[in-house]
Parts: sequence; structure tokens; C-alpha cells
Amino acid sequence: MKTYLVTGGAGFIGSNFVLRERSNAKARIINLDLLTYAGNLMNLQSLDGDKGYVFVRGSIGDRKLVRKLLDEYRPCGIINFAAESHVDRSIDGPEDFIQTNVVGTFHLLDEARHYWEALPEREKSQFRFLHVSTDEVYGSLEPDDPPFREDTPYAPNSPYSASKAASDHLVRAYHHTYGLPTLITNCSNNYGPRQFPEKLIPLMILNATSGKPLPIYGDGLNIRDWLYVEDHCEALSLVLEKGKPGEMYNIGGRCEKTNLEIVKTICTILDEIFPDSPHVPHESLITFVKDRPGHDRRYAIDCSKIENELGWKPKESFETGIRKTIQWYLDNPEWVESVQTGEYREWISRQYGGESIG
Ligand code: NAD
Ligand code: DAU
Repeated sequence: MKTYLVTGGAGFIGSNFVLRERSNAKARIINLDLLTYAGNLMNLQSLDGDKGYVFVRGSIGDRKLVRKLLDEYRPCGIINFAAESHVDRSIDGPEDFIQTNVVGTFHLLDEARHYWEALPEREKSQFRFLHVSTDEVYGSLEPDDPPFREDTPYAPNSPYSASKAASDHLVRAYHHTYGLPTLITNCSNNYGPRQFPEKLIPLMILNATSGKPLPIYGDGLNIRDWLYVEDHCEALSLVLEKGKPGEMYNIGGRCEKTNLEIVKTICTILDEIFPDSPHVPHESLITFVKDRPGHDRRYAIDCSKIENELGWKPKESFETGIRKTIQWYLDNPEWVESVQTGEYREWISRQYGGESIG
């Protein structure tokens, strides 16, 4: 059986990926995660006792630890999810983003290179370093601009996207200079189970169900492309298996929506599920708040490369995916409670200027 070193596997996308890989026992997974506020071992509780899964708490920037794990477990690939991932927190305090996303990725990459260089020829040719990145590296689109392609120039606008762009460049350079078999994926906004409720969709679901304001930045007409997290994970497995080393793959849902549309859809579904709630219509909870500084207006992804070359297509429509997502948050109150810690409440109060929002 193959062994992969997954980093950041206790976060939102990483945990969905690890659960998927272990559900079909496709690969042994070593999960290296620092367990920042965004990492949660409850995400992986169902793997307790699974002999094909190992959890290690630590940082991708800890070279000694990374080296030890590579030597001990001899993985045939690394999938790097580990990152600081929230744009608003990067505006509030960019330093952790530089440390983890840039410096941390560099250390991981450099240890991967040394390990890979010493592998026997056959294993060397099969090894892959998959770096999970974002569409935000391409910057912001005007309403009539064509969607981002893999050859769209990078123009990151936030400290978060700039740090991800820097890490992408390092990964690209390690392929070009040393021949490390790297793959980079640039994906649009994910949603689904286990997403930390600082991000738009889970924040709105949880606030609406408890009758709290639904804070929409600016005029609410910023556009994002949305993809159900399991579709992203399937794309990552495919890129890992069939992607061409040195290449980038854009991943998206062909599902552009304004933030206002997203929030109104959540409200309508909650009105249906809870017709007797005192908060019906949930839309009345919508509150327009100060805009995010430097807020990108529109993202859109042209994913024809991964569709044509690797045969990937998303399975979930937004209409089905958002219902599954809402249901997951309603069915998992212990999870919700576990992430709404003191740190979370402090963040909400700092970001929205009061205790009432989150
Ligand atoms: P997340 O914030 O939910 O999870 C990040 C995980 O990384 C957490 O478990 C955290 O504990 C861990 N981590 C942080 N610093 C670490 C370090 N130094 N060493 C080891 N682990 C560390 O993020 P997510 O939404 O799951 O995103 C995962 C990756 O996918 C990120 O690289 C992000 O940039 C990228 N991405 C996310 C989206 C999205 O919509 N969420 C879209 C495209 C790309
Ligand atoms: O595009 C991919 C990116 O998507 C990933 O790389 C990031 O890791 C991920 O966090 C996400 O970034 P966004 O900034 O797009 O996600 P967020 O959920 O924070 O915001 C989505 C949109 O909703 C954005 O236009 C800002 C807006 N928003 C967000 C929050 C939290 C609001 O209007 N109100 C809010 O309270």
C-alpha cells in the first residue's frame, strides 16, 4: 500500500481528504498538523484505531521532525494542505501567514528534495509533491473578464494570497531547478462539512440558526466560484495519480455567485427546515457591515485543463451541496461547540466589533 505524508490534515479540506483516502483504504496516511485554532482532531475521530492512519502534531517548518517522518515512513508523496488560510486574519496580522505559508512551505519543500534525491531510481520517478493552493493568487476579475486559466499572471492582493503565491513560486522553482516532481493545484472557494466558522458559509449557517446578525461585507456583490469540498478532494487524488510533474491545475465549480445570493439561499433553506423558528424569514438577519480592505471583487475559474486532461468533473451541484452542508452543521452540535472557543469569540469580537455577531 502507498504511504502519503499529508500536512494540515486536521483542517477543513485536509480532513475531508484524509477521510476519503482512508474510506477506501487507498493509502496509508501520516498526518502532520500543528493544530492551530483551525485544526481539530474531532474531524478525524472516526479514524481512531485505524492502523493505516498516523497523527503527528508538529509544524511543516520543523525540519528535523519532517526529516524524521520522511525517513521513518518512506512516503511516495507529500500533499501540502498546511497553511494559514483566512484572508481576514491575514489582514489583521500577516506574520503567521509568512511563517507558515512561505517559510514553512520552504522548509517542507527542501526536506522533500533531500529525501527525494536519495531515493532509488524507480521510487524517485514515482514520488510527487502536491501543493494545494488557491485561485486568489490570480487577483481580482472585472465583471466581463474571462475566468482564470493556468497561464493567467499572478497578481495577489491580500497578505494571505501573496503568501500563497510566494509558496507556489517556490514549489515551481524546485521543479525547474532540482527536478522535484511537483504538482500545484489552484482551487476556488470550498464549502462543506468541517469548515471552521470564520468563513462565509459556516458563519452564516450558525449565525442564522441562532438568530444572530448575518454580516455581509460592502454591497454583498463580490463574486466567488464555489466547489463542494469532496469534489475538490477527488480532483486532488486524480492530480496526484495522473497529473504531470511540473504542471499546475485549476480546480473550480463553474459556479459563480454573489455573497448575497449565497446568504439568501442559506436563509431560504433554513426557512424551509425551521418554518416555526422566530427568526423566519432568516433574511431579516442580514446586516451590511464595513467592507474587507482590498476586497477582491470577482474570482472565476477555467477548469478545462483538468477536465480535458484528467477527466475530472464536479459531482455536486451548489443546490445539493449547500443542503448537505447545512444538514451537517445541524447534525453536529458537539463539533460546533468545540470550535467556538474563547479564541473564536475573541476573533469575532475583533473582526465585527461586538459579541453579538458570532
Ligand atoms: P484550514 O485553515 O481549515 O486548515 C489548515 C490546517 O493547517 C489546520 O489543521 C492547521 O492546524 C494546519 N496548520 C497551520 N499551520 C501549520 C503548520 N505550520 N504546520 C502544520 N500544520 C499547520 O484550511 P483549509 O481551508 O482546509 O485549506 C487547506 C489548504 O487549501 C490551504 O493551503 C489553503 O490555502 C488551500 N485552499 C483553501 C480553499 C478554501 O476554500 N478553504 C480553497 C483553495 C485552496
Ligand atoms: O478562493 C479560495 C479562497 O477562498 C481560499 O484560498 C481561502 O483559504 C478561503 O478562506 C476562501 O477565501 P475568501 O476570502 O473568499 O473566503 P471567506 O469565506 O472569508 O469569504 C467569502 C466571501 O464572503 C468574501 O467575498 C468575503 C465575504 N464575507 C466573508 C465573511 C467571513 C462576508 O461578506 N462576510 C463575512 O462575515
